[in-house]
Amino acid sequence: MQRFEGKAALITGSASGIGLATTKRLAGEGARILACDANADLLRKEVQALADQGFDVTPWVFDVRDSAACDGAVAQAVARFGKLDILCNIAGVLMFKHFTDLTDEEWARVFAINVNGVFAMCRAAIPHLLATRGNIVNIASVAGMIGVPYNAPYSASKAAVLNLSRALAVEYASRGLRVNAVCPGSVLTPMTSGITPPANAELPVFARLSPLIDHARPDEIAGAVAYLASDEARFVTGSALVIDGGQTAI
Ligand SMILES: NC(=O)c1ccc[n+]([C@@H]2O[C@H](COP(=O)([O-])OP(=O)(O)OC[C@H]3O[C@@H](n4cnc5c(N)ncnc54)[C@H](O)[C@@H]3O)[C@@H](O)[C@H]2O)c1
Repeated sequence: MQRFEGKAALITGSASGIGLATTKRLAGEGARILACDANADLLRKEVQALADQGFDVTPWVFDVRDSAACDGAVAQAVARFGKLDILCNIAGVLMFKHFTDLTDEEWARVFAINVNGVFAMCRAAIPHLLATRGNIVNIASVAGMIGVPYNAPYSASKAAVLNLSRALAVEYASRGLRVNAVCPGSVLTPMTSGITPPANAELPVFARLSPLIDHARPDEIAGAVAYLASDEARFVTGSALVIDGGQTAI
């Protein structure tokens, strides 16, 4: 399938995990992509591997905490492709800590990346996406829907991403812009390989485990992002697509 032939996409978090899998998926289906991430070395290595396979993917190193850099990334995509059809906000960070041990800086860092970054990217991209009747896919999390202990900043940030997505979907529906969120459960990526509950944790991090007793692969999330970003999802906006192996159904 070449669902993204002629489409221009900007993806954040492209160097790793779900963002990398999404970059591969959209590029494999014909998209031209500005692949954005803060991890310069990893991004350049992964994008080079895609370019070597003939895909039209360009690396762009930036930090989503810097709203001027978000403006710059969108401007770069539009300068390179002449337009923007798809924005995928995938960059994010996770942390586990007892709530009362959190510092101001830790709370602010999670929100700066997971929420403010999505805000700044959407604000910069929406004028261009309105011109193409394009769409936005934001990666939230089941942690934004249910309570996860020792995970308050992340859970709160992902709930914000979820409702930011819904608010934008409603605000812009009549002008042809779609906005959707994906809510993964546990996905095997570098983010989750390093999870350790805080010392003296009395609760399991996930009280509700997937009845599949398994984890998603990044390409399984990328497939859902690709669906939402494609014209097949013409009637889908404001949705929260849960991909959690049944974790939140229990
Ligand atoms: N892995 C999971 O189980 C899971 C579950 C639900 C939601 N998510 C969400 O999916 C998204 C991707 O997670 P992942 O598991 O692929 O993680 P990952 O750590 O493999 O990838 C995250 C990417 O974001 C980039 N990034 C981090 N801070 C950045 C910044 N300030 N500016 C620009 N780029 C930055 C990192 O360099 C990295 O390449 C995140 O938003 C995460 O919260 C992950």
